[in-house]
Amino acid sequence: MTEQNTLTVRDNRTGEEYEIPITDGTVRATDLGQIGRAEGTPGLAVYDPGFTNTASTRSAVTYIDGDKGILEYRGYPIEQLAEKSTYLEVAYLLIHGELPTKEQHEQWVHDITFHTFVHENLKSFMQGFRYDAHPMSMLMSSVSALSSFYPEASRIKDPEVRHEQIVRLIAKMPTLGAWSFRHAQGKPYVYPDNDLSYPENFLSMLFKMSEQKYDPDPRLAKALDVLFILHADHEQNCSTNAVRSVGSSQVDPYSSVTAGIAALYGPLHGGANEAVLRMLKRIGKKENIPAFIEGVKNGDEKLMGFGHRVYKNYDPRATIIKKACDDVFEVTGVNPLLEIAQELERIALEDDYFVSRKLYPNVDFYSGLIYEALQFPPEMFTVLFAIPRTSGWLAQWLELVDDKEQKIARPKQIYTGDRQLTYVPQSERWA
Ligand code: ACO
Repeated sequence: MTEQNTLTVRDNRTGEEYEIPITDGTVRATDLGQIGRAEGTPGLAVYDPGFTNTASTRSAVTYIDGDKGILEYRGYPIEQLAEKSTYLEVAYLLIHGELPTKEQHEQWVHDITFHTFVHENLKSFMQGFRYDAHPMSMLMSSVSALSSFYPEASRIKDPEVRHEQIVRLIAKMPTLGAWSFRHAQGKPYVYPDNDLSYPENFLSMLFKMSEQKYDPDPRLAKALDVLFILHADHEQNCSTNAVRSVGSSQVDPYSSVTAGIAALYGPLHGGANEAVLRMLKRIGKKENIPAFIEGVKNGDEKLMGFGHRVYKNYDPRATIIKKACDDVFEVTGVNPLLEIAQELERIALEDDYFVSRKLYPNVDFYSGLIYEALQFPPEMFTVLFAIPRTSGWLAQWLELVDDKEQKIARPKQIYTGDRQLTYVPQSERWA
């Protein structure tokens, strides 16, 4: 280790100096833990609510440069993948680390296609939900239930078993997602059609009625596939962290992915595009935008779909989605809320409040508009996110399972409560 690759820390409480190694731009929290320990105190810890500056893992899956607006899966820029690849190929890339050969691709697509069906008991399980159940809640519960259908999934150290569950999960997510959608509409569940591609089959399970064979519009199937590619992974975000955290207990992948779905359900994560649509509808017309922006600046509310923990620049996915809007609107007709969104973006990007805080549109700012044009109700938006993110979660989960450095996730706390109180019996407290 060269001298430059260390951090010299002087503890002014004791005058002690410590030499802490710096590796890959990080110091180990456990190295900081030696500070002060000799003096009988618990040793220095790091306080970082929300992990704003803490690396929890090494990862070779996804690279983001938030300042420059760069997103790469396994080193490939998102723009190239969105333009030239398919979601299933991208899923292969995320899981295996490399683009597939022709044979590998054929096998992968075949395997995913032939695992799209789910056990009939799972269908009955889903039919037991109330008529107005949120589809994300149904998806979360049914993915969790999958672990009971495949008990061998708990053998997470066996690569073959792992691979089989990965194929099953990627294959069955569209089936479960589509059935959650049909349930709310009181329509019969549509079985997978294995003659169709991944996005086409999903559209068929969502929208097929009495026709013999569903005939999806290729432009809509392509747009959906691009949206799937954009949402496939995003390194250590809230839901991926949930997958890794739960996975660190060595539970099966269905349970870990369920944790990811739960995290994605929240409005600050996957639920933001639903909030964007509500916001756009509330604004209603362009003339109301200045008053709305004033409210945001006064701290009354947030401009949903703007800002990101990592991107301090235009989210590259937002640029691609904006382009996909044109393709979808060509088929469906323009969503009238688009005009309000574009005007909001224009005003916000010129306003010092947003500029100085580096708040730019994120992936959710335009995705809700597309989903609405595709006739999805807002409750389905997070489901549409969870389906492709499954490949990313599983790629990260695979990394975790094989990472010798990982331990069961168990953060520290700074205790702020009372100590050593004496219990007062109920008879005395309630007298
Ligand atoms: N509208 C108005 N002000 C905002 C917004 C926003 N959307 N986002 C951040 N700010 C302000 C904060 O109030 C804060 O201002 P201050 O310095 O005066 O206190 C400053 O910008 C920094 O914001 P933080 O909250 O510290 O940023 P953080 O990284 O914690 O939050 C987050 C990121 C949660 C995404 C936030 O920007 C937000 O809530 N955005 C709206 C919700 C949204 O679009 N979420 C989708 C994220 S993408 C995804 O999950 C797929």
